[in-house]
Amino acid sequence: MTLAWGRRFLMCPPLHFEVAYEINPWMQAEVRVDRDQAHEQWNSLVATLTEAGAEVEILEPAPDVPDLVFTANAGVVSGTRYIPSRFRHPERRLETPFHVAHFEAAGYEVTELPEGLDHEGAGDALPFAGTLISGYRWRSDIEAAAALASLTGASTRSVELVDQRLYHFDLTFCPLDDRRAICAPLGWDSYGQRVIGDLVPEPLCLENDEALLFCANSVVVDQTVVMPACPPRVGNQLEAWGFDVVVVDVSEFLKAGGGPRCLTLALDVVLGG
Ligand code: ARG
Repeated sequence: MTLAWGRRFLMCPPLHFEVAYEINPWMQAEVRVDRDQAHEQWNSLVATLTEAGAEVEILEPAPDVPDLVFTANAGVVSGTRYIPSRFRHPERRLETPFHVAHFEAAGYEVTELPEGLDHEGAGDALPFAGTLISGYRWRSDIEAAAALASLTGASTRSVELVDQRLYHFDLTFCPLDDRRAICAPLGWDSYGQRVIGDLVPEPLCLENDEALLFCANSVVVDQTVVMPACPPRVGNQLEAWGFDVVVVDVSEFLKAGGGPRCLTLALDVVLGG
């Protein structure tokens, strides 16, 4: 049984991508992005996802919002409902009008989170076997999970993120199917580790150095796992489970603290159904 979602993604070409501010420990504003390289890497991610059988829809690029490429943070999608993110950092709040305009034009029903609650979308909320698992602390508020539950009908569990280098949940968790997920316990407190332990019968637990290579920030399309890096130990386990691993070079995007998963937003998710 493969994942029920992950065959349709929203992505934004890196026309205006740069590291212009520092809101996570990986970002250094003096570091230059090689835009040509970024375009090449982004195009080859699109090609890889397409080859694996996924469709890619485009969010129009816009100037002065360099992190717009990280569409995982646009919000939470469930069927034809779209819940825009409420970004913690003012730099990223500027993206929201572009996100909302896109989803309105695409015919989605746009539903807002309650005022005063931060939540950074699919970057901090991933469906696994009927439960929406939501990470909180660095970017999202714990209370936002309850709001998402009542807006979508999903049952949710919350996991506290404790390592600032793994500031979004999608840097620590990657659903592979209904029983398996790539897990980075380094990012979770001990209670969160228990929550995930209870939910995931067959975890592929990353060592700390593997987690910091963003191995969990992978995109799964059916049997294909598209990864920013894949140490042999991790690849062997994935292959033993019947997955095909494709490693993509996303070095330009790592300068902003993002990997392949951050560059995609799954559009074919139905929560609470
Ligand atoms: N520079 C972006 C930020 O710090 C990277 C976002 C990564 N996205 C993700 N889903 N993990 O907000």
